[in-house]
Amino acid sequence: MPVVIIIGGQWGDEGKGRVVDLVARKADIVARYSGGNNAGHTVVNEFGESRLHLVPAGIFYPDKVCVIGNGVIIDPKVLLEEIDDLQSRGVTFDNLRISGRCQIIMPWHLMIDRLDEELRGKGAIGTTARGVGPCFSDKVARAGIRMADLIDPEGFRERLSFALPYKNAFLEKVYGAEPLSFDEVYSTYSEYAARIAPFVTETAELVQDALERGETILMEGAQGTLLDLDAGTYEFVTSATPSSMAAGAGVGLGIGPTQISKVLAVYKAYQTRVGNGPMPTELMGEEGDTLRERGHEYGATTGRPRRCGWFDAVASRYTRRLNNLTGMVMTRLDVLDDYPTIKVCTAYRLDGKVTKIFPSSTRALMRVEPIYEELPGWQKDTKECRAFKDLPPQARSYIKRIEELVGCPIDMVSVGPQREQAVIINPII
Ligand code: IMP
Repeated sequence: MPVVIIIGGQWGDEGKGRVVDLVARKADIVARYSGGNNAGHTVVNEFGESRLHLVPAGIFYPDKVCVIGNGVIIDPKVLLEEIDDLQSRGVTFDNLRISGRCQIIMPWHLMIDRLDEELRGKGAIGTTARGVGPCFSDKVARAGIRMADLIDPEGFRERLSFALPYKNAFLEKVYGAEPLSFDEVYSTYSEYAARIAPFVTETAELVQDALERGETILMEGAQGTLLDLDAGTYEFVTSATPSSMAAGAGVGLGIGPTQISKVLAVYKAYQTRVGNGPMPTELMGEEGDTLRERGHEYGATTGRPRRCGWFDAVASRYTRRLNNLTGMVMTRLDVLDDYPTIKVCTAYRLDGKVTKIFPSSTRALMRVEPIYEELPGWQKDTKECRAFKDLPPQARSYIKRIEELVGCPIDMVSVGPQREQAVIINPII
């Protein structure tokens, strides 16, 4: 089983980190291939509760090689803080490898992210304000600074000498902001570079060598398909390129499509979203608040309350098809334990017509009304269930119905945040 990809099937925050943490024990390499520190993967294991923003969730296994692939953008300060925090709790970093091709989040990216959101006013995206969009924009505009540049003092000086005057002009003339000082940026980032340099290597070569030896690579997506620049609810999406969908995994790590053997997407047993943009099944008022409190649905990166709603099988079938999933993982089933009945959106009503198509028009998606099917709840604690047969019959029916509606088998269900609180139906690796 050479390459297994785990992606998000909804709007991010599905629990990819906890799934990777559990499955990683059977992999040789665990890799991130997209996004940046807008991601926040919460993992609970023998090291306590960790929020990973950049480091792959395989880091808790000292015998796994963890790769941050070329598709990931890196804020060096955040990466070093994350390493320091995990090291202080006993996690070792001997096996972390970072691609020299990763783009770097620079101070102007953070400033522009914030200033741009202000300028957008009511049309603000609700970004994580981590500089992600501006950094990916610079990547595409061929104006970025890469890890290989950052760790080469002369290369960095050259690249910064090009980028900074250009960005300062932008900051001053477009946004009326203060320019940044070359010396300050150069010295601060050179210090970061000196600490990060030992981890930097030719990761694509490393990965290909591992595949030639028959090793297994577990690839951890960031965000979710509905936040994807192409497939998602544009313009309320993240800017990651390559895409955080399965199709982006090869580009973001340096592997070919024919080397991928399995693609799994993680879905919560209900739906959440942070930031602005359409969400057809969103529950407003008390109903939404109840689900948020039961699921402790607050962003791992920004702490913002997540918008909560019922499972949207229309959106999920769409993301299943676009990624040609071989399996699904359902997380947080236990959050639904107390409900007497549970709703699932099976179709949309759009301008008076019933449809099962997830519309490409964001305005149309804002107008759709969800059509629900109501299923009986189980009103039993599922947190201790470890096998499918242990789950209450109504919970099993809920899982089966979602498989049917989305059109894909569910290989694993999680019933709590701890590593072992999971029901494995079909082994993932
Ligand atoms: P950005 O990626 O910070 O530019 O934010 C763009 C949109 O994606 C916003 O709605 C964010 O809330 C959302 N977003 C980005 N990363 C994540 C994530 O890891 N989980 C959930 N939402 C995210």
